[in-house]
Amino acid sequence: MGHGIAELFAIAGYEVALVDVAEEYLKRALQNIEWSVKKLAEKGQVKEDVQTVMSRIKTVVNDICKAVEGVEVVVEAVVEDIEVKKRVFAEADRCAPPEAILATNTSSLPITEIAEAVKPERRPRVVGMHFFNPPPLMPLVEIIRGRYTSDETVKKTAEYAARLGKQTVVVNRDVPGFIVNRILARVNEAACWMVARGEATVQEIDSALMYKAGLPMGAFILMDYTGIDVVCFIGDAMLKRGFKTHPCPVITEKCQQKKYGVKTGEGFYKYP
Ligand code: CAA
Repeated sequence: MGHGIAELFAIAGYEVALVDVAEEYLKRALQNIEWSVKKLAEKGQVKEDVQTVMSRIKTVVNDICKAVEGVEVVVEAVVEDIEVKKRVFAEADRCAPPEAILATNTSSLPITEIAEAVKPERRPRVVGMHFFNPPPLMPLVEIIRGRYTSDETVKKTAEYAARLGKQTVVVNRDVPGFIVNRILARVNEAACWMVARGEATVQEIDSALMYKAGLPMGAFILMDYTGIDVVCFIGDAMLKRGFKTHPCPVITEKCQQKKYGVKTGEGFYKYP
């Protein structure tokens, strides 16, 4: 999701520093961004030429401190592991200007706990800024308050999202899954248990959700698209935080088999 978020900021006219742990991921990220900006430009949704947008994105290999120098906002989109997120926040806090907002794109982890990894003076400027995949196309951003988040930070984050062309909803407590993933978890769970009990197939459930319930993707297509590993991370994180779920073997088996969906060529469906 990181490259999609970087793309949105670059399209909106911001200078962006994209940081990742290895050169190869950054190279792939730039290719994905260029493909996406071209697509949007062909449809008239980006007014500038592609190279002008691309020129606003610089890449930084494995050096958070360098990437956050002089910035006004940091958006973190690393793996859904609270310890990794805390390390990234502590490092960003050390090097970003004191007035910078530190936002996390976490899908399910507590904003309050992430904020506790930074200095007390920064905590009012730590907030959840949750995008949806693919960020360039999905219109919604959830803005999540942690215990320390100030009204000013929520307001400024909503202003950033608006400049990226997004609609926002504010979630007043950093409850597990916020709004969308909390509800989606129930949909996925119901869909998976229907398959596990032999009541309907993956294809039948997806068809029902798409052709009758009007969703753009069925539950299983969407899990393949989001990444079944991510779905498992979110489910585990929500479970640990006391959200009552009945983890379904149809999902957990895919995770154990590392069949994560589109990214591995197979999940509930196969991808050439
Ligand atoms: N950038 C630019 N263009 C893109 C793109 C991207 N990243 N991804 C796809 N497109 C383009 C396609 O190339 C295609 O272009 P053409 O019309 O020129 O062929 C166009 O968008 C439409 O795409 P598709 O034909 O592939 O299919 P579609 O009409 O179904 O649209 C979709 C794709 C917008 C993703 C749509 O299926 C959709 O809205 N799906 C639901 C996605 C969703 O719910 N996401 C949230 C997941 S949950 C999450 O992210 C939260 C979390 O915490 C994990």
